[in-house]
Amino acid sequence: MEGLFITFEGPEGAGKSTQARLLAEWYRTKGREVVLTREPGGTELGLALRRIVLSHPMRPETEFLLYSADRAEHVATVIRPALKRGAVVLCDRWLDSSLAYQGYGRGLSLEWMRAVSQEFLGDLRPHLTFLLTLPPRLGLWRARHRRRSQEPDRFEEEELAFHERVLAGFHKLAEAEPKRFVVVDVQQPRAEVVQQRLREVLQARGWA
Ligand code: TYD
Repeated sequence: MEGLFITFEGPEGAGKSTQARLLAEWYRTKGREVVLTREPGGTELGLALRRIVLSHPMRPETEFLLYSADRAEHVATVIRPALKRGAVVLCDRWLDSSLAYQGYGRGLSLEWMRAVSQEFLGDLRPHLTFLLTLPPRLGLWRARHRRRSQEPDRFEEEELAFHERVLAGFHKLAEAEPKRFVVVDVQQPRAEVVQQRLREVLQARGWA
């Protein structure tokens, strides 16, 4: 059986982790092995890197390299082995987040980031990427509301214009790879309705 690699992208508060969790349940009821994971923080080292990158001010280059360190470890120790076993890998954020946040958001060169990533990704690409979109203002409100007991992370504190650039960047990435990306507007529908749409997409592609 072949592994299946599906990633979830989008601005803060889009409900990516909820959708990934619901898809994991669905695939498990079908008897598939599912690895539900995320970036940053899909490994023990990644959790330590996540704490650093989300709390310390740093240069954009440093930020990208820390996300890449997390990703390199994650790909080698979690994602590749799982795909090799034939598992369904559901990953909350991936390289596209670096291209959107550090590239379109902070102005780093996409070519440079792709070249660095090539070193540890090789030809690994998601079979499918769900881009869940909603207006950044609403997403930030949802994200802050969700974690009102915690301090906001560095990204949630960024100005709205930054988040607008990130979202526009995600759309450009999706336009450049229309076969891999499926864009789903999550502003109105309830989580169950969004989930139904994702399942229909997977069924239509014969991945269910
Ligand atoms: P995440 O935990 O997915 O945040 P949220 O649940 O709020 O969407 O990711 C933490 C933050 O890290 C998020 O604001 C996006 C940012 N990020 C990057 O800037 N570059 C990256 O490569 C990744 C993976 C995440």
